Amino acid sequence: MKPKRLVMFSESLLAGVSAKPESIVRSSSVLIAMPPVLNAIVAVCPDLGIGNNGNLPWHPVRLHNEFKHFRKMTTTSPVPGKQNVVIMGRKTWFSIPEKNRPLGNRINIVLSRTCKTAPPGAHYLAADFSSALRLVNKELADQVGQVWIIGGSSLYKEMLETPGTKRRLFVTQILKQFECDTFLPEINVNKFQKLPEFPGVSKELQEENGIQYRFEVYESTEQ
Ligand SMILES: NC(=O)c1ccc[n+]([C@@H]2O[C@H](COP(=O)([O-])OP(=O)(O)OC[C@H]3O[C@@H](n4cnc5c(N)ncnc54)[C@H](OP(=O)(O)O)[C@@H]3O)[C@@H](O)[C@H]2O)c1
Repeated sequence: MKPKRLVMFSESLLAGVSAKPESIVRSSSVLIAMPPVLNAIVAVCPDLGIGNNGNLPWHPVRLHNEFKHFRKMTTTSPVPGKQNVVIMGRKTWFSIPEKNRPLGNRINIVLSRTCKTAPPGAHYLAADFSSALRLVNKELADQVGQVWIIGGSSLYKEMLETPGTKRRLFVTQILKQFECDTFLPEINVNKFQKLPEFPGVSKELQEENGIQYRFEVYESTEQ
């Protein structure tokens, strides 16, 4: 049944959503400022698998153009002179090859309940999701363009379930199944809709190293 979930998700109807400059949400009994749009990006297998053994499911195969898409989406800031933020869990941070950490031209925030200081190379450490958003919206407010959640499972879950702002999920649907031990949480098909197109995101079927995939963008229907 798992593959059906994403299919159902793809079939959501499009409805208009208006943006708010900033909104406030209550989380863990404190009021936090939310960015106008919370973005997340993920590449998923048909069963919603996103990782295996601390790596991408298709490791050691590399999908260079898929990675370029990730880099372009997360790096391109809408505001000249400002950098985007990437927020990730500790395991995702350590799944990035050391030579590529921190992710370039982006402010890297790592979430951990156990780390006492930011892992070497990371720009900031946050003890929970709300603290990371507070950091972005208060201390870093003048420097930040967009906010991107880049994994893993629990961060996607928090992003998908955090009301109070428009949320966009950029999905690469990998059209081949690989063994997975880490999954994208189930998505509420009533709360997200697939956009027919999005600037800078190709609608064409992609193929690399014999693996086909598609780029898709989903947007929350409520804020
Ligand atoms: N396909 C994709 O697009 C994609 C994207 C990202 C990652 N991945 C894959 O997914 C796997 C890693 O993801 P994962 O889900 O296993 O781990 P993860 O979310 O990257 O990291 C989990 C750790 O992050 C910290 N953490 C998570 N949520 C937190 C919160 N709300 N507050 C404070 N700390 C929090 C905790 O660290 P402490 O234990 O230190 O407290 C937790 O143990 C790898 O296989 C990676 O390759 C795939």
